[in-house]
Amino acid sequence: MTEIPTLNARDVLEFYLDTGVDALLGEEPVDRFAAVEAPPVAPRQPSERPAPAATVRPATPAPAVVAPDEAAMAARAAAKNATTLDELRAIVEGFDGCALKATATRTVFADGNPQARVMLVGEAPGRDEDIEGLPFVGRSGKLLDQMLKAIGLDRSSVYIANIVPWRPPGNRTPTPQESAICLPFVLRQIELADPDILVCLGGPSAQTLLNIKDGITKTRGRWFTFDTGKREIRAIATFHPAFLLRSPLQKRFAWRDLLAIRKALEN
Ligand code: URA
Repeated sequence: MTEIPTLNARDVLEFYLDTGVDALLGEEPVDRFAAVEAPPVAPRQPSERPAPAATVRPATPAPAVVAPDEAAMAARAAAKNATTLDELRAIVEGFDGCALKATATRTVFADGNPQARVMLVGEAPGRDEDIEGLPFVGRSGKLLDQMLKAIGLDRSSVYIANIVPWRPPGNRTPTPQESAICLPFVLRQIELADPDILVCLGGPSAQTLLNIKDGITKTRGRWFTFDTGKREIRAIATFHPAFLLRSPLQKRFAWRDLLAIRKALEN
């Protein structure tokens, strides 16, 4: 009979952490901004001393909950005000219209060279990015660095951002509402960085930026025209490095896309 190994709680938790599970989500959504109801208080016995008034602290005010449409409008108005990438970063850091900010540790704005000819846009920060405050620093970031190196690029010759600058809890995909709220920021970021070539990393980035419904398998490797607001540039989508880590056989297609980017840079 095959012996089934026994796992202790630590092994199980380490396994979860290795596979990217680092947050517990329940079946039912929890509105953490809702006022917490005080538990019923048992009637005080005459012998009990009343608590001194000074021990009662006022509740921390909850951030205002804004409807997604209103939040996207506010983001559009705020993004327009930015005339430089530094101003945009400060605006994004001060924006409270996306609920993801409340659960994230850091705002992950960008990495690399804002003057670069190539700008890469991923989906959303993961656990490592949330800790460091920089995009693509975890395992998929290491693979991205190798992919860039293969065509003679590195973080000094590309600029990197994400559709959403805050980590979704448990690394889930951002909801369409969250992406829509943050979209004006990344669009302004592209306009201000003004790259020659835009590279969408993965399906959600391609669908959001290129305004398409097709999945990444169909979209990757094709050139699109992208209007930055300043001018028309070339855009291409390729597989997300996290997907390539799970499906290494697909790397040959990503390699073709990288060669296409290299060739476009030579022109
Ligand atoms: N995946 C992304 O899409 N972006 C990051 O920054 C990290 C992982």
